[in-house]
Amino acid sequence: MELPTALRQGVDSLLEKVPLPALKQAARTLSERYRAELRDGRLHMGEDMAVKAYLATRLPATYAAVRACLDALADARPDFQPKSLLDIGAGPGTMLWATADTWPELERAVLVEASAAVRKVGQSLAAGAIAARASWVAGDATIDLDGLDPADLISVAYVLDEIAPASLPKLVDRLWRLTADTLLIVEPGTPAGWQRILAARRQLIEAGAHVSA
Ligand SMILES: C[S@@+](CC[C@H](N)C(=O)[O-])C[C@H]1O[C@@H](n2cnc3c(N)ncnc32)[C@H](O)[C@@H]1O
Repeated sequence: MELPTALRQGVDSLLEKVPLPALKQAARTLSERYRAELRDGRLHMGEDMAVKAYLATRLPATYAAVRACLDALADARPDFQPKSLLDIGAGPGTMLWATADTWPELERAVLVEASAAVRKVGQSLAAGAIAARASWVAGDATIDLDGLDPADLISVAYVLDEIAPASLPKLVDRLWRLTADTLLIVEPGTPAGWQRILAARRQLIEAGAHVSA
């Protein structure tokens, strides 16, 4: 699955003139941190160069995976036409782009992201290119979700692995309470990611959710 043209062009222009050795080093560091599921109190994408490394090395695959999830959801629920999105740990806006591509009638999106560096990039990529009204919210999803409004589609993609395991049940509970229709959780296809999906799935079924996929 290709990135939408406008996103591809935005990424290319952000990566223009970035020195390749620095980008490669940042990509190595990012990859090691993700592989180790390192939780050392620092965000993986806290720095500008780490964000650029994400755009260069991870965004295409992440976008393709997220877009495939939305396609699966659209197939399973042809009647589902979300007008509002609340995306947690939005990164550079991957889910926003994928949702707007799947359902162009999307009207508004709230994107919660802890890292100022990645928020800035996400905002600049989406500005003028996405029709939906997008608000970027600074905050830690484990403590700052109280003031948010429910949305038709709530999503959290490749984020749970960055959150302390003890905080996950409360976060899943909060997300479910904000869900007007569908909650989409995407995790890496690793044994640990699969276990997190199973735990969230168990918790959500106990809370009355129906599993779509
Ligand atoms: C691997 S990236 C995924 C980004 C995006 N969802 C995607 O699929 O491309 C995880 C993102 O979650 C953010 N994040 C991690 N912990 C967070 C928290 N507690 N609250 C809000 N954002 C968080 C990180 O800063 C990072 O941008």
